[in-house]
Amino acid sequence: MKKIIIAIDGYSSTGKSTIAKRLAKELGYIYVDTGAMYRAVTLYAMENGLCGDEGIDREGLIGKLDDIKIRFVLNNTLGYGETYLNDVNVEEKIRSMDVSNRVSGVAAISEVRHKLVEEQRAMGKDRGIVMDGRDIGTVVFPDAELKLFMTASPEIRATRRYKELLGKGKEISFQEVLKNVTDRDYIDSHRKDSPLFRAPDAIELDNTDMGKNEQFERIYNHAMRII
Ligand code: C5P
Repeated sequence: MKKIIIAIDGYSSTGKSTIAKRLAKELGYIYVDTGAMYRAVTLYAMENGLCGDEGIDREGLIGKLDDIKIRFVLNNTLGYGETYLNDVNVEEKIRSMDVSNRVSGVAAISEVRHKLVEEQRAMGKDRGIVMDGRDIGTVVFPDAELKLFMTASPEIRATRRYKELLGKGKEISFQEVLKNVTDRDYIDSHRKDSPLFRAPDAIELDNTDMGKNEQFERIYNHAMRII
């Protein structure tokens, strides 16, 4: 079986990681959540006084980039890698609303992107990888054999995310979640470096009215035609 790169991009909370994890498991591929990497850098900045209510200390953060080590460690029970920042498991912390509200500002810094894109390319050098994010099919792996671009209405995406957060016991309002999702989409699509857009050769999948199994089967069939 041929080893390929599957790039999954799209707007916030479109279910990219759920599909990507299942696909990787089914194909025996590595799964990489690049959003977790931008979230880990944001957490580092927040914990080191480089990002807060007053904004981001851009130069300060750029000066510390070499001190930030991110890796994924396989959790056999979960079946996928958890995010470690400088040897500490931060999988839970990077999903907080505080991080979600700041990550797109940090992800707009070119030096941050440069560091993470290099690491992502290294992870995919042997192919056999499913990577999700915002610039995978456009910048990280423009030569990926299969590119997908996932969309859904903002209300549906916010509803799914809201339910997920409630399920985890987080106290949050629907409006707050909707604002976070739409703000991030705006910043991600309008930044100068690597803005979010659909690669011309990516297959678009609007899952507003599509169940998880149907989505998975469509993508899996696309992959199997190439592999
Ligand atoms: O995928 P997730 O929603 O966790 O990503 C968090 C944020 O990280 C995005 O809103 C975006 O600002 C940034 N990101 C990015 N490029 C990627 C992946 C994520 O800019 N490849």
